[in-house]
Amino acid sequence: MEVAVDNNIPGIDADCEGGCACATCHIIIPENFAATVTPLEEDEHYLLDFLNNRQKNSRLSCQIEVTDALDGIIIKVPNQD
Ligand code: FES
Repeated sequence: MEVAVDNNIPGIDADCEGGCACATCHIIIPENFAATVTPLEEDEHYLLDFLNNRQKNSRLSCQIEVTDALDGIIIKVPNQD
C-alpha cells in the first residue's frame, strides 16, 4: 500500500493509512503469488467480505509485506473509479 501511495497508483486511496479498516487499498494478487504473500488474517478477511467486487485472490495491500519473494509480481487494482 505504501509503495502504491508513494507512486500515486490510481485506485489505492488507503484512507485508514494501513489500519485494516477501510478496504480502499484493495488489490488482486496473481494466482502464482497467492501462496507467497503475507497470509490472510481474520480481520482482513472480514473487511474484504464487505466489498462487492471481492475476488478469489483479493487482498488489502496494506496487509502485504513487500519482500524479495514478490519480485516480478503484477498486481491488479480493482478500485479504479
Ligand atoms: S489502507 Fe485501509 S484497509 Fe488498507
